[in-house]
Amino acid sequence: MAKLPNCAYAPPAYDGPSKGEVIKLRSEFLTPALVTFYRDPIMLVDGHMQYLFDETGKRYLDGLAGIVSVSAGHCHPRIMQAVNMQNSRLQHTTTIYLHPNIAKFAEKLASTLPEGLDCVYFTNSGSEANDLAILMARAYTKNYDVIALRNGYHGGSQGAMGLTAHSSWKYAVPHGFGVHHSVVPDRYRGYFGYDDPECGAKYALDVKDLIERGSSGAIAAFIAEPIQGVGGVIEMPPNYLQHAYKYVRDAGGICISDEVQTGFGRTGEHFWGFENNNVVPDMVVMAKGIGNGCPLAAVVTTKEIAQSMTEAIHFNTFGGNPVSCAQGLATLEVILEDDLQGNAKRLGEQLFAGFADLQNKYACIGDVRGKGLMGGLELVEDEDKTPATQLTADIFETCKDLGLLIGKGGYYGNVLRIKPPMCLTKEDIVFMLEVLDEAFAKETA
Ligand SMILES: Cc1ncc(COP(=O)(O)O)c(C=O)c1O
Repeated sequence: MAKLPNCAYAPPAYDGPSKGEVIKLRSEFLTPALVTFYRDPIMLVDGHMQYLFDETGKRYLDGLAGIVSVSAGHCHPRIMQAVNMQNSRLQHTTTIYLHPNIAKFAEKLASTLPEGLDCVYFTNSGSEANDLAILMARAYTKNYDVIALRNGYHGGSQGAMGLTAHSSWKYAVPHGFGVHHSVVPDRYRGYFGYDDPECGAKYALDVKDLIERGSSGAIAAFIAEPIQGVGGVIEMPPNYLQHAYKYVRDAGGICISDEVQTGFGRTGEHFWGFENNNVVPDMVVMAKGIGNGCPLAAVVTTKEIAQSMTEAIHFNTFGGNPVSCAQGLATLEVILEDDLQGNAKRLGEQLFAGFADLQNKYACIGDVRGKGLMGGLELVEDEDKTPATQLTADIFETCKDLGLLIGKGGYYGNVLRIKPPMCLTKEDIVFMLEVLDEAFAKETA
């Protein structure tokens, strides 16, 4: 059985309500819309860097990072020190008063982006940031139509739900006015495959067609994730975004990169996901990994585009809060100073080499996708690519039993998603691959 690498940290004994009591309280007082992972849900009460602990002290390797949010590690000491210090001095004022944290953090964030992308608006969640991005795009261009991609996930607010294109995340309520969804450039399941070097340009033709025949012809914005996360780690093919951006800009629109999952070095090769595609967006949406676990998100754009928001007053009570900004700034400093992007690159190579070995060994691994520490394994039953949804769920459970927490996604729920905190080590990757091997062996036997 795979053995977790050693960890010097030992959590304090847990003395809170039992798991059974918490389940009871949740079912009595919390919305039934909340879902939990695992047939027997786990309760996590402590975290240290890449590890999580349940109430019994059992340790897990966190292969999902609180859904790609804990970029630098749970309770990272340097980040905690900055947050605790800020908490003890001043928690909240709003942006109507000056505070250094929001200004210092905005400056640092802008330094990671191409020149011109230097005007920051902080919010509390990715959904809010996407709502704001679309509002700003419409205010700036004075156009209304927006293009998003099928199979994309951009959040659960009514505006962001309109951008999202997965029936599992959409309610039958009016949403997404003016939003059109272009075909997802999925080389595994789509019309054009990995064997077609022109597939990026071919898929982008659907964006052109949508502009010409599915919209007013004048576009406010195009929004896409460089690698669709919730949708099952679908990478945009080479040249796809370059062509799509051109069609959109020719129609008067601006291009938005939703970097909520791909940002902050996770893809290894580059700090931002769009950089892997040789494009420069007009607006970047970030959340999750920006705050290492706190409610923090941002839209970064040019000063000219941001100016359009001054026509009315837009206010966000907690956006840019001193504590969130202390956490965001410390997280960014840790990511840069500890070269977590380099770690994502090096360990990503090790991880994907291991994935290739697993794919050679297990025929059910139909496709391996992703970059750096954003990996996806799509599981199928046969050569017709019938989604192996049940097998995926079984492997996901077994990994948990063996001490590894990972994610699951894709429209059919047949993609294993691996997105750990970027502070993990090569020993952790060895453990992760051994656990996956054991779980595949058990569940495919
Ligand atoms: C790519 C992407 N955009 C936006 C969001 C929405 O972020 P939030 O849940 O913080 O509203 C998510 C959440 O999973 C996401 O993955």
